Amino acid sequence: MTRTLVAYGSKHGSTNEVATAVAASLRAAGHDIDLLSAEAAAVAGPAGYECAVIGGSLYMGRWHADVCRLVRRHHDALARMPLAVFALGPRTLEAEDVADSRKQLDSVLKRLKIEPQLVTIFGGAVDPAKFHFPLSRMPHSDVRDWQAIDAWSAEVGAMISERTTKLIQV
Ligand SMILES: Cc1cc2nc3c(=O)[nH]c(=O)nc-3n(C[C@H](O)[C@H](O)[C@H](O)COP(=O)(O)O)c2cc1C
Repeated sequence: MTRTLVAYGSKHGSTNEVATAVAASLRAAGHDIDLLSAEAAAVAGPAGYECAVIGGSLYMGRWHADVCRLVRRHHDALARMPLAVFALGPRTLEAEDVADSRKQLDSVLKRLKIEPQLVTIFGGAVDPAKFHFPLSRMPHSDVRDWQAIDAWSAEVGAMISERTTKLIQV
């Protein structure tokens, strides 16, 4: 069966939870999924996987350092396989906020010279209890849309199935 790596870079846990939901949704659809932190995935490498999903949070316009390191370190292998990428996350789901985050992610991907088959932005979450002052004064927010996450996971599932079909035909 096609093995898929789902790797995440998360500072405060919300991206980890989204990656866990994507992995669970793919497993429920019958796919063979390994869920790893991007740090662990950068060490293990993508050898032995036929597809990959990489998700990381955005902070100050930067994608999580661990996911950037994973892509840099294993660029050629990742560029050869069907790859889906996501990032968190705007504070609202207003089109303008989502487009701003998308622009940030697109420019990171351009710098990393990687062109994933699927790219998306999910709304983010801020828990002020996890921050020191002054960020601890930020309002609590969580605009992660679990239905949208599930719908995107189905697109990733189709990407994996397409790869499986090609492998069977070879
Ligand atoms: C200080 C700070 C800076 C942020 N900068 C960005 C940003 O530049 N772009 C963006 O889309 N989201 C930004 N966010 C939102 C985070 O990406 C969002 O809260 C995400 O869910 C955090 O993921 P994590 O819990 O996995 O660390 C920022 C959040 C904080 C607290």
